Amino acid sequence: MTLAEARERVAVLQRTLAYHNHRYYVQDDPEISDAEYDRLFHELLALEERYPELRSPDSPTQRVGAPARADFGPVAHGQPMLSLANAFTESDVEDFDKRVRERLGRSAIPYVAEPKLDGLAISIRYEDGRLVQAATRGDGAVGEDVTGNVRTIRTCPLKLTARRVPGVIEVRGEVYLPKAGFQELNARQEAQGLKAFANPRNAAAGSLRQLDPAITAGRPLRLFCYGVGLIAGWEEPLVSQEALLTWLRALGLPVNPDWSLVTGAEGCLAYYREIADRRKDLPYEIDGVVYKVNHFDDQRALGTLARSPRWAVAHKFAPEEALTQVRAIEVQVGRTGALTPVAVLEPVMVGGVTVSHATLHNPEELARRDVRVGDTVRVRRAGDVIPEIAGVVREQRPEGIRPFAFPTQCPACGAPVLREEGVVARCAGGLACPAQRRQSLRHFASRRALDIEGLGDKLIEQLADAGRVVTVADLYSLTRDELARYERMGERSADRVLKSLARSRTTTLARFLYALGIPEVGEATALALARHFGDLEPLMAADEEAFMAVPDVGPVVARALQTFFAEAHNRSVIAALRRAGVHWEPVAAIATQGGPLAGKTVVLTGVLSDMTREEAKAALQARGAKVAASVSRQTDFVIAGRDPGGKVDKAREWGVPVVDEARLRAWLNE
Ligand code: IVH
Repeated sequence: MTLAEARERVAVLQRTLAYHNHRYYVQDDPEISDAEYDRLFHELLALEERYPELRSPDSPTQRVGAPARADFGPVAHGQPMLSLANAFTESDVEDFDKRVRERLGRSAIPYVAEPKLDGLAISIRYEDGRLVQAATRGDGAVGEDVTGNVRTIRTCPLKLTARRVPGVIEVRGEVYLPKAGFQELNARQEAQGLKAFANPRNAAAGSLRQLDPAITAGRPLRLFCYGVGLIAGWEEPLVSQEALLTWLRALGLPVNPDWSLVTGAEGCLAYYREIADRRKDLPYEIDGVVYKVNHFDDQRALGTLARSPRWAVAHKFAPEEALTQVRAIEVQVGRTGALTPVAVLEPVMVGGVTVSHATLHNPEELARRDVRVGDTVRVRRAGDVIPEIAGVVREQRPEGIRPFAFPTQCPACGAPVLREEGVVARCAGGLACPAQRRQSLRHFASRRALDIEGLGDKLIEQLADAGRVVTVADLYSLTRDELARYERMGERSADRVLKSLARSRTTTLARFLYALGIPEVGEATALALARHFGDLEPLMAADEEAFMAVPDVGPVVARALQTFFAEAHNRSVIAALRRAGVHWEPVAAIATQGGPLAGKTVVLTGVLSDMTREEAKAALQARGAKVAASVSRQTDFVIAGRDPGGKVDKAREWGVPVVDEARLRAWLNE
């Protein structure tokens, strides 16, 4: 094929693929099979590989499919989402009841006792009976928009079923994975060579916070409702928690049937014991029970503290423990070279999960606890905490076993181990250490970072150990032939990796920042940074003080950021990534942040009574919304005036919320 012929074919393929991409992702109406699409895609990929000058930035190979969502937009809760104070012992519960009695000046207080599900708190907003928005708790005042994902929960009604429903209601509840669903999901994860989730709570949170609702839809999530936030357009007074639970059911919402109306501390404790007995047989995981003063008048009289109400308490189960033996102590090398001792255990069930490893944190902690190979230890799991060793059973220590000698050389590369600030032991090898290279690649490719499918542990290990991929930027120069030659790889796997690499070039600033693996910068911080700075240049130019202006960034994180970006090596990796085509849309920065419209894609239709379409558009844009001409899967909501027409039908068909002009006005006034 001559260059001219190639040029022509590339143009045809690019156009054809873009068309089918649109049919598939935007119109939801594919014309060709996935296999046919893949064939065309690979033909283009191969041509662009051979003639890199023909690869344009808008080629479909540079943007495989539309990302489901750049990130989760913020949602301001109509009423704050509070959390609960904890009680651990019977006397804590008695004290709670005593405080309630004293404040109310009465005895024999009625409480509603409920199981405390171990899931993720959610607020679901219904307007005129239609589900319009769902948000996580976030900091209690502002959560993350997970509407698309919550809509996939099969037990969550999209429409309330009662004849009369409030104009607006924020329903509060817990999204969780039933025990059976958790096992099923983990079996599937393992079959696909993916990591199993540590517990149902992590699995539920991970499933709900998927940028692609299609993934959430494949997870067996469930919902139980136990409260309300804002209610408007409803005249009948709600008198008690008992009445509320009954009403929620009547509205068609799922309510856990295992609640009970009890009296006084004694009634609470009897309920606790009963549930503790049944805990193993319940179809869902719980970490305690909750007691709520039943009457709302009493709740109001008691009031709330900063973060939790005085009228409720969570009575937690003691963390579960089990005895097992330490088979070995391994020292793992992290992405930044930190060495973590890990106890390899005789597998044991703790609280419904098999535990085979427990972290020993750092050399100092290991020495303090004096855990030795051969010891019998108590392993503990509490909530979503990584399993830990609660203690060594000294009486059972076999004779002659010695304290663990912490290595003075990195177990992966032999470089000296440095001790920093007392507790951290670090391999001095930097990127010369294959273990560090592997970890940073693994992190970069992980689902929540650049999500490079097909770049599994085995391949990473080979690439890192061979020195072929030293920094993450080297990934983008891999070729098909070369990849296909690695162990357990073939042309198909090579293509898959190349396709994911191509797709990963289009990302978001938040993901990119997270993927860099900056110490102290997790997903939430990356998102906050992206929102605050909008793009990478201002962020890289910032100093510690500027970083501290970002919500939740304190001196430690600011310091880590400053250090990271000051490092010439890191700057050059970032530059190489950008040269390789990694890019993102700048985020609309702070000015347009925070409101209910920020970052939303909206479509206007119909005639508005107090403003023109252009005025509405400008007002929406000024608040950070994107105004699109037609309804697609990316639309957050449609604003419908009089005589709206086809767009509303389309919206309904795709489950995109439709709001009226009154709602728009309310948002604009917020
Ligand atoms: S009531 C002010 N009821 O526990 C009322 N919470 O530790 C706040 N939870 O964030 C919540 N089951 O995620 C309530 N039956 C239940 C619950 C429950 C689980 C969770 C919820 C909350 C956390 C507080």
